[in-house]
Amino acid sequence: MQASRSSEMATDTPHFGVIPAAGAILRAQGLRKIFHSGSQEIAPLDGIDFSIERGEMIAVVGPSGAGKSTLLHLLAALDTATSGTVYFAGNSLRSFVEIELSEYRNRAVGFVWQRHHLLPDFTAAENVAMPLLIRGESHEQAMRLATDWLSEVGLSGRAMQPAGALSGGEQQRVAIARALVNQPVLLLADEPTGDLDERSAEGVFDLIEQLHRAHGLTSVIATHNLSLARRTNRVFALEHGKLTSGADRLAAGTERAGAQTPGGRN
Ligand SMILES: Nc1ncnc2c1ncn2[C@@H]1O[C@H](COP(=O)(O)OP(=O)(O)OP(=O)(O)O)[C@@H](O)[C@H]1O
Ligand SMILES: [Mg+2]
Repeated sequence: MQASRSSEMATDTPHFGVIPAAGAILRAQGLRKIFHSGSQEIAPLDGIDFSIERGEMIAVVGPSGAGKSTLLHLLAALDTATSGTVYFAGNSLRSFVEIELSEYRNRAVGFVWQRHHLLPDFTAAENVAMPLLIRGESHEQAMRLATDWLSEVGLSGRAMQPAGALSGGEQQRVAIARALVNQPVLLLADEPTGDLDERSAEGVFDLIEQLHRAHGLTSVIATHNLSLARRTNRVFALEHGKLTSGADRLAAGTERAGAQTPGGRN
């Protein structure tokens, strides 16, 4: 089994030093992203500021095209902002040289894609082992860790199945195991339950909550599912390039829905 990491402990990382147990781990300042499509300018993020504390679970909601994926890509350093800055543990991603950016993407962040992007002809275990093999782990060790992770996401019997033969919910569990196999401190998930029926979506979200706690993660999850969003610490709502508290998007009277501004905290 994987060593779990409590969010109450500071984490000593090889490339980013000690990340304190508390305090802002992700911060966005004046974040703007402009896309050009022909003569048209699209600004899904038009000056966004927020701060996320270590151990928080945040939902990002908003209509299709509002910029949820764009925001997650910027947080994961998979794309660069037109202006403004993302800070990880106080360090501007703009100050990272290429090797630091690649360490950040591969070791600090676990990313679950909107479409899971598994290799369908490879087994579930091979898919999960891939990030370990890329970082130079032996095949034997990578497969051992991958198999452990597959048990942790409830797929111990499916490790040797081709990923393409698994159900949508199972494939998403494989994608989550692959995102976490390098033991990141951040989990960024882009509509991880978007393609699933209600029951599978609940199951996958339950799993994310459980892993979030067990491994001391800080998680940002884009979702269209407001009842799942309500289960997070805070909700960020994106619309017309701006970020607001998601409270008005959620039904009133829920305990955990974020009634704070994006800079605040539960
Ligand atoms: N590479 C790109 N080039 C041009 N426009 C883009 C690009 N990527 C995204 N956009 C545009 O930016 C806007 C935000 O897209 P994004 O994918 O972030 O939305 P989203 O909130 O994730 O939507 P969905 O809920 O459908 O996944 C959309 O209008 C989209 O068409
Ligand atoms: Mg999207």
